[in-house]
Amino acid sequence: MNIIWARSIVSVVLLAVLCVVVGALVSVKAALVLAIVLLLAQSFFSTFHKQQLWRLLDAPVYGEVPSAPGIWGEIYYRLHKLAKRWHAQVRQVEQQHSRFIQAIQASPNGVAMLDDHDQIEWCNAISELHFGLDAKRDLRQHITHLVRQPDFVRYLNSHRYEEMLIMRGMGDKRQNVLSVQVFPYGENRKLVLSQDITELERTDAMRRDFVANVSHELKTPLTVLSGFLETMRELPLNEAERGRYLELMEQQASRMRHIVNDLLVLAKLEGDNKPPSDQMIDMRAVLRHLKHDAESLSSDHHKIAFDVDEGLTVTGVETEILSALGNLVTNAIRYTPDGGAIRVNWQASGGGAVFSVTDSGLGIPAADIPRLTERFYRVDRSRSRDTGGTGLGLAIVKHVLQRHDAQLEVKSEEGRGSTFTVRFPTYRTARRQPAPA
Ligand SMILES: Nc1ncnc2c1ncn2[C@@H]1O[C@H](COP(=O)(O)OP(=O)(O)O)[C@@H](O)[C@H]1O
Ligand SMILES: [Mg+2]
Repeated sequence: MNIIWARSIVSVVLLAVLCVVVGALVSVKAALVLAIVLLLAQSFFSTFHKQQLWRLLDAPVYGEVPSAPGIWGEIYYRLHKLAKRWHAQVRQVEQQHSRFIQAIQASPNGVAMLDDHDQIEWCNAISELHFGLDAKRDLRQHITHLVRQPDFVRYLNSHRYEEMLIMRGMGDKRQNVLSVQVFPYGENRKLVLSQDITELERTDAMRRDFVANVSHELKTPLTVLSGFLETMRELPLNEAERGRYLELMEQQASRMRHIVNDLLVLAKLEGDNKPPSDQMIDMRAVLRHLKHDAESLSSDHHKIAFDVDEGLTVTGVETEILSALGNLVTNAIRYTPDGGAIRVNWQASGGGAVFSVTDSGLGIPAADIPRLTERFYRVDRSRSRDTGGTGLGLAIVKHVLQRHDAQLEVKSEEGRGSTFTVRFPTYRTARRQPAPA
């Protein structure tokens, strides 16, 4: 028997017993009056708590439990227990939901959820960025009212989502490329996943350009070489002419060798580990080498001055640093007409070390400066070729310096000369003890 029945029966029995006792001891009338008073009191008590319960259910306040004696206290307590359990369940579901949302927000890809009418139910921040959406404002909006590109509308309506869609001109600057794919789920719902592949496309294009450039660079000397070979086979040449042709052929072969060598250097730089930061370079030997190479390349046609702090050095790979700084010095000589001046500086500055080469040469137009470190980029093709350049020198310089955490700075004025400055960070800069006398 349940507790409510039990208590009701007990109270009715008690009332009956009390009335019988009063009826026997006092009078039947008194027993009747007592019964009516007690029944009225009980009815009032129960009406009061019914109303209390009504108010509680009407505007529940979590945690507030009215107190009452007897069965009503029991009812309030049970109601509170029930509310507490539900509250805990709701909180658990809420936490799971928020963790789920956080996980999707952390995804590097855009995620948008569409309902069965292709209206936006939810989207993460990346998706907002990709499609220019606003998760709050655009809630319940039809996605094709917001993403109006005909390709996208066609794709969404095609219901064939095995392949992804490439969308160009996206993002706030209309310069991004997205790869978009729809995944149907649930009851006619759709998940729209998007990925920004701008960088991927750019590297792909760069790789294609690079292969085309290499082929072109090698094809030119090869064509010239084949031409000479044909001439030598078909024309009767005297000894002097033969010698001249062989010399020209040797020049073309050497040009191809230089290009291939530089390409191999670049490939090696790209694949190698970062240079050690605890290996000191013998900077004195490097500077001596640079000076020797500069003087022999110039053959006294330029005024060359070296102003160096011999004790100053940096950490990293010596051959790489020699090749990078050497490139800057040889460029200065190659692109400075005879009689010009070249000045090389190697000094400490602000905790770091600074290498600079200043020449009084041809200078570089401002528009070309940002592109100098691109592979095969030359300001003046014929001059670069005449001086034996491959167009890869500054690309190698950029790579080596990046690997050594150093910065390259180019200042130039057309017709007046240029300064190439390399700044090494403090943590790569060191001092050598002076050599014993
Ligand atoms: N000191 C300089 N003065 C003028 N132009 C320069 C100088 N250094 C580099 N350049 C320009 O930058 C281009 C790229 O240099 P680099 O990558 O070393 O290739 P290159 O093999 O042609 O020397 C050169 O072709 C030249 O036009
Ligand atoms: Mg060069």
